[in-house]
Amino acid sequence: MFETNHCFIAEDTETSKVIGYIFGTTDTVALEKKFIRTMVPKIILHLSIHTLWHDLPSAILVGKYFLNMIVQFAPVGLDHKYPAHFHINILPGHQGEGIGKKLLSAFETMIRSERIQGMHITTTSANKDAIGFYKHLGYNVVMKAGTTIWGKSDVERIIMVKSLS
Ligand SMILES: CC(C)(COP(=O)(O)OP(=O)(O)OC[C@H]1O[C@@H](n2cnc3c(N)ncnc32)[C@H](O)[C@@H]1OP(=O)(O)O)[C@@H](O)C(=O)NCCC(=O)NCCS
Repeated sequence: MFETNHCFIAEDTETSKVIGYIFGTTDTVALEKKFIRTMVPKIILHLSIHTLWHDLPSAILVGKYFLNMIVQFAPVGLDHKYPAHFHINILPGHQGEGIGKKLLSAFETMIRSERIQGMHITTTSANKDAIGFYKHLGYNVVMKAGTTIWGKSDVERIIMVKSLS
């Protein structure tokens, strides 16, 4: 993770186990450039000297994923108005308990305090629950596009945005 300051963890107070997280960035373009510069060479190196020889199907899977990402995940022109983005996950046994809302609210408050105008999130048309959750919390769909990045041809890539100003 590049921006450990832009991260919140939900912990079960009884078990001290992590049951959810949200992390993200205030500058998606800069983060993508940093990822390409610092991580992609390491991934390619690992694929070519290890995975390719020990686990060919996985190497092909990762290779295809990256190719699809480059071809299908072209910039969508949201970076000026909605430069921040995030990932959120709550453990299945703890979904629907209000944890996602608390984490997202904490994240939005922090991003707002850094005077960032807006956030975007990418999900898939298959994730109806997440789309409902984001809509409920003020996010609107601004883009739908076909993609095979998740290995299914009938799934669309959905981008949702929320203005923070
Ligand atoms: C999607 C996810 C982050 C939501 O977090 P959560 O903790 O389950 O949601 P919460 O309990 O905080 O729900 C907050 C509010 O959203 C509403 N909500 C949740 N899902 C909803 C849905 N599908 N449709 C409409 N409203 C929904 C809740 O009713 C609640 O409303 P309220 O505060 O007015 O009572 C979580 O379920 C999850 O991690 N899912 C699996 C991983 C995933 O899909 N991550 C996102 C990838 S893009």
